[in-house]
Amino acid sequence: MEENIKPAKEITCCVSQCDVPLDKDYWEKQWKQNQTGWDIGYASPPLTEYMNSYSDKDASILIPGCGNAYEAEALANAGFTDITLIDIAPSAVEILQKKFEAISSVKVLCEDFFRHEGEYDLILEQTFFCAIPPSRRMEYAEKSASLLKNDGIVAGVLFDRTFEQEGPPFGGCPCEYKPVLEPHFHISKMEECRNSIPQRAGSEVFIELIKKNRLD
Ligand SMILES: C[S@@+](CC[C@H](N)C(=O)[O-])C[C@H]1O[C@@H](n2cnc3c(N)ncnc32)[C@H](O)[C@@H]1O
Repeated sequence: MEENIKPAKEITCCVSQCDVPLDKDYWEKQWKQNQTGWDIGYASPPLTEYMNSYSDKDASILIPGCGNAYEAEALANAGFTDITLIDIAPSAVEILQKKFEAISSVKVLCEDFFRHEGEYDLILEQTFFCAIPPSRRMEYAEKSASLLKNDGIVAGVLFDRTFEQEGPPFGGCPCEYKPVLEPHFHISKMEECRNSIPQRAGSEVFIELIKKNRLD
């Protein structure tokens, strides 16, 4: 998965399709062949800055499609006590299990996010949504909401651009994301991300989505 940066505004807005099954085998192959062009090598600044202002250190936090999970290291170092990492690729999980074996605040699971069961205060999003087929975005929204406690939050970044080559990554823009997310979330923030890494500057939105409770 390589990025070829081009701002969304220059390309017609459309949701691309995906014919390749993006399953465990696909992702394991990417990891085994070191095809990890998404990996920025450090914790994503928009996420760490958001978490700097998140006061509940005992909040239960899920990072799905976590990859090398630099954010989890940053969270553990900042005193967060309950972090769950999920990745579908066994090779990624093997790396994580070694990395976090001495850190009891971080739990590592080799699982498919869409089959995961749990209950969290917060889900952190960093290039996982763009890795799933666009046809599963509604399922992502529904599943994320089902994994959150009342008033739970999804926070992180989504691309605000399209990609020339077939995904993943799959791009998009707020006008596509809102109808998918609004049935399950109040969109508290979906705005131009001002602290993206330089390579993604101007091509991400920061999101904060608050789960809608049944009576909302
Ligand atoms: C684009 S990478 C992003 C990794 C990490 N979030 C980052 O930004 O470096 C997507 C990751 O999601 C994992 N993944 C893809 N589909 C998944 C699924 N259904 N459940 C859990 N993990 C999945 C892949 O193995 C891969 O590590």
